[in-house]
Amino acid sequence: MPNIAVLTSGGDSPGMNAAVMSVARAANLMGMNLIGIKRGFNGLIGKSKSLEEDIVHLSLDQVLDIADLPGTYLRTARCLEFKEAAYQQKGAKLLRDLDVQGLVVIGGDGSFQGAQALARNGIPTIGIPGTIDNDLGYTELSLGFDTAVNVCVDAVRAIRATSRSHDRAAVIEVMGRNCGDIALNTALSTGSEILIVPEMKDWSVDDIANRLNALVDRGNKRASIIVAEGAYKTMTPFDVYGFMKDYPSSSHPVFPGSPMDAYFLSRVVEHKVQKTEVRSTVIGYTQRGSQPSARDAAFAFEAGVVAVNLLKHGESNRVIGVHNGKVFHMDIESALQIKPSFNRRMFNMVNAL
Ligand code: ADP
Ligand code: F6P
Repeated sequence: MPNIAVLTSGGDSPGMNAAVMSVARAANLMGMNLIGIKRGFNGLIGKSKSLEEDIVHLSLDQVLDIADLPGTYLRTARCLEFKEAAYQQKGAKLLRDLDVQGLVVIGGDGSFQGAQALARNGIPTIGIPGTIDNDLGYTELSLGFDTAVNVCVDAVRAIRATSRSHDRAAVIEVMGRNCGDIALNTALSTGSEILIVPEMKDWSVDDIANRLNALVDRGNKRASIIVAEGAYKTMTPFDVYGFMKDYPSSSHPVFPGSPMDAYFLSRVVEHKVQKTEVRSTVIGYTQRGSQPSARDAAFAFEAGVVAVNLLKHGESNRVIGVHNGKVFHMDIESALQIKPSFNRRMFNMVNAL
């Protein structure tokens, strides 16, 4: 029976296990053995004491148990060495030695570059997008994004409930690296009033304070300020020491020299606005470690089958995605050239009402 392999790489994302399960079932149906590579590209470059630590034969029975679990059963890693040609050749050699005739890589754009490198070295590869950030321009959806948004929506609804009870505002930080999609979709789904994303260049803390001030004047003291984690990088520099000069000692201290974060932002905005209290929450890794939503799990299922089918038909260097709600595939190189497009119209709408 021919062998194919699968690995997960980069930050884990809900739906990775569902995709592995689907790859296993499709491989089984098509008469192929499935090998799991552990810890992303680390599992290909001989870093472990023995090969047994790097590869696992995935039986159908084994993977049926993991389909709806969060995290990734195969483990994941960021393997910096794999950017070097020598390690890519080493990885391809190991796959050849294992008689692997095709590899499914589940990860984001970095992982897809690793997949491309293996394809250059003669290993047929297919990519399945797995990242909560949704920062791959060629696809409307990557595994984990829908789950991450749902986690944030649940959290923001709960925060808005307590904000309502106390009539005070909230800063809520979500993930997404340099992409504001989780933040935008969370804000839209919760009716949040202020949204800050990395796609906004040169925003300032005063913009946020002015906006909150205007909302308070219109009778809303309990606005939610959704901040995408990457947005601090695109903020105009904030004069921390100037701010500290007239910041009163209070039960909510600020620490001079600390970089801007959700807590600090809440302190600054509260102090500038004066008319409402502002608390802060960082939603954090619950966005990555949650059970996949129905949408992510369904995409994972279809993507796994498509990936194995492509390998069976001798295809390589292709990635799977969603366009107009339908699963499709295209070549990796063209896919990686498409920049993510942020929905500015919806962004403006959130901040305008
Ligand atoms: P993601 O896949 O979510 O974008 P990373 O950017 O961290 O996550 O990339 C995951 C892994 O992919 C890296 O740790 C590395 O092993 C591999 N990788 C990233 N960039 C390249 C590259 N240019 N060439 C080969 N492999 C790469
Ligand atoms: O890429 C997924 C992601 O969760 C980003 O949203 C976040 O910035 C990053 O990974 C965190 O990575 P780490 O697991 O290294 O803390």
